Amino acid sequence: MRPPRSMPNHAIASTSIDEFHEVLRTSKRIVALCGAGLSAASGLDTFRGAGGMWRNYQATSLATPEAFEKDPGLVWLFYGYRRHKALQAKPNMGHFALAELAKKKGDGFMCITQNVDGLSQRTPHPRSQLKLIHDTLFDLKCFSCDYREIDNFNDPVHPSLTIDDESVTARLAGASTNPFHNRIAFLDPATPQTIDPAELPHCPKCTHGLLRPGVVWFGESLPQDTLKEIDDWFDQDRVDLILVIGTSAAVYPAAGYVQIAKRHGARVAVVNMDKDSLGSASNLRKTDFLFQGDAAELLPQMLGPIRDRRKASVKEVKFK
Ligand code: APR
Ligand code: ZN
Repeated sequence: MRPPRSMPNHAIASTSIDEFHEVLRTSKRIVALCGAGLSAASGLDTFRGAGGMWRNYQATSLATPEAFEKDPGLVWLFYGYRRHKALQAKPNMGHFALAELAKKKGDGFMCITQNVDGLSQRTPHPRSQLKLIHDTLFDLKCFSCDYREIDNFNDPVHPSLTIDDESVTARLAGASTNPFHNRIAFLDPATPQTIDPAELPHCPKCTHGLLRPGVVWFGESLPQDTLKEIDDWFDQDRVDLILVIGTSAAVYPAAGYVQIAKRHGARVAVVNMDKDSLGSASNLRKTDFLFQGDAAELLPQMLGPIRDRRKASVKEVKFK
């Protein structure tokens, strides 16, 4: 029987870790869909809600090709800051627990992450089971040609992009008189550019194009080879469980994997600080799970039985 419309998710789904452990034990194929909340305990900001502002800008308004075209220096300052923060941060126990699950389950586990912070890559998570659908902050690509640089961990990424507080503040002061920039305000042609594009990093291949962060921005297509790998995994067999971890599940196509997993037979287990805005993972059923709290604390408890405590590695894998 369908619950009445007004009944919230969390009144229906199970919140029992013991029941979850039972499902985990019998699940042959598990997929995880991860978002910014997974890295929140590592000190990295989320995109929406409380952590969604960078200075006076909505983080999501800076993640578009239009924003880069209008003011590449501003977008680079934002990404320079995020690269710096991600390099300073450390993977948390949530990332390590997922890495253990991946090692234990082999092909029976796939982790789809929207995160571009590189933290999962710094755990012993087998790389073939980690699908970076929004790419990473540490790849650079050319805005004009097909040039791509992999694993650039320079901080700052370019001498023109020092991220110290004082110089960023000074540069932003000239950017706009509008203290609450939104996408429309800062696409206003009258707004001056934050940094002269001539000073910004340029492509070594075509020489005229600007380098940009290698992440997927709004309106851009996702990496086709990664999408194909994900589709192939789903097509192999039924899926028993999807873990929806620290994501508002509001951005497609990523959020669509919840429905796809359900169509393949999966129960849903949500791990989120906020139980009320679960995007595509709303409408939880009696057979689903909802764990409210910090992913870094909950995941080690949830995945406890599957992990070999003696061998569990929390040793960080350093960047090259
Ligand atoms: N533990 C678990 N969940 C948390 C925690 C935490 N410590 N802190 C925050 N959350 C939850 C929030 O309640 C929210 O539901 O994490 C979610 C973060 O949501 P978003 O900020 O929307 O991040 P995400 O879902 O990853 O965004 C998707 O949007 O901007 C684009 O490309 C960007 O990959 C990103 C995509
Ligand atoms: Zn180029």
